[in-house]
Amino acid sequence: MKTKKILIIIGGGIAAYKSLDLIRLLKKNNFEIKTILTKSGREFVTPLSLTALTGSKPHENMFHTDEEAKIDHISLSRWADLVLVLPTTANFMSKLCQGRAEDLSTTVILASNKDIFLVPAMNVRMWSHLATQQNVKSLKNYGYKFIGPEKGEMACGEYGEGKMSSPRQIYSEIKNYFYNQKILTQKKLTALVTAGPTREYLDPVRYISNESSGKQGVAIANALSRIGIKTKLVLGPSDSQVDKGIKVIKVTSGIEMLNAVKKLLPVDIAVCAAAVSDVKPINKNTDKLKKSYNQLNNLKLDKNPDILEYLGKTNKSKPRLIVGFSAETKDLIKNSKKKIREKYCDIIIANDVSRRDIGFNSDYNEVHIIDSKGNKEKISKGKKSYIANLIVENILKKFLINDKNIN
Ligand code: PMT
Repeated sequence: MKTKKILIIIGGGIAAYKSLDLIRLLKKNNFEIKTILTKSGREFVTPLSLTALTGSKPHENMFHTDEEAKIDHISLSRWADLVLVLPTTANFMSKLCQGRAEDLSTTVILASNKDIFLVPAMNVRMWSHLATQQNVKSLKNYGYKFIGPEKGEMACGEYGEGKMSSPRQIYSEIKNYFYNQKILTQKKLTALVTAGPTREYLDPVRYISNESSGKQGVAIANALSRIGIKTKLVLGPSDSQVDKGIKVIKVTSGIEMLNAVKKLLPVDIAVCAAAVSDVKPINKNTDKLKKSYNQLNNLKLDKNPDILEYLGKTNKSKPRLIVGFSAETKDLIKNSKKKIREKYCDIIIANDVSRRDIGFNSDYNEVHIIDSKGNKEKISKGKKSYIANLIVENILKKFLINDKNIN
């Protein structure tokens, strides 16, 4: 890939020190970096360390007299392929919302014709404050892209959402963005993702289900959509945050999920991350079941339709790449390889659901990506959003190989 140029604006927050690790990672992978050091960013990172890592002095002022600073706000914004603001503070977001151009950083952003990624970092209460959330909403409407924030322990000792994404996570988002831009400029792709659990009601108040939160599937839908793939999501009961721009169909049961999937075809790529209940009651009792032996003994179960298998077998509008998940508690690889054959998919993402620190309802996952030829790649434990980026990167690579029209 041609060398990509990133302009990093360093904001004033304790997480600013992580920008140095990110720059190191980007430079190691042949990205060209220029920086703007804001006045408050200077309190946390020195111009000297930025110069040493990037090979050029950070830009700090709007108006210069010296030779070195010939680059003005327009040429700086045109130079970049992408602009990254980290950490993005609550104050900085509020300035962007107002369209202020009061210093070099805000002026460059206002003048930019490139995608701008904001990487927020702040105290959990500052992040969840209605004013901040209103600003996030407006900024998304203006077209700004967000990386994070994540949940975790903060520099102030409190716990919650507001922690800046790790340099590794930010790097994976940037890499995906550029890698996939190449594909997307050639072809407009569409994707369908299933996510979350299903609920199979026994009576009006009780159901068969599982612990799926929808986080992994939603993270995949978000990752696909963020790189410009037109994404549709069929989502079982879940509170996970879905990005704007994704068409979401909310469902409850496995049958509803299958019907929604059928309606959304055709698509280029299908990813089945939902934990569809394998069984459902043959009949749903109209009234709440009684404990009586008769009523419980008459509970009859049936198999739910298999959505992934349906997609693999259908002749009508079959997706060009089908990705399944495999949730196992033992013999993960062996059982997952079997599922590729039995469910006719191209790739299976295998995860061990016996562990409590990953898989069901955790913010983390660890997966093996296995293709129909038996090639296997492990992605070590990371946030589900990070895992999703790498899965999407892998999916697109496979898509590229499968699809002779894209080169
Ligand atoms: O939702 P989270 O809390 O983030 O947790 C993520 C996850 C653990 C649910 C996810 O990573 C995962 O493993 N999803 C698949 C769960 C599952 O049902 O696995 P399975 O091995 O039983 O099914 C294999 C494949 O068949 C899956 O792609 C599944 O979506 C699909 N399937 C299964 C049954 C069915 N009736 N229809 C299906 O489409």
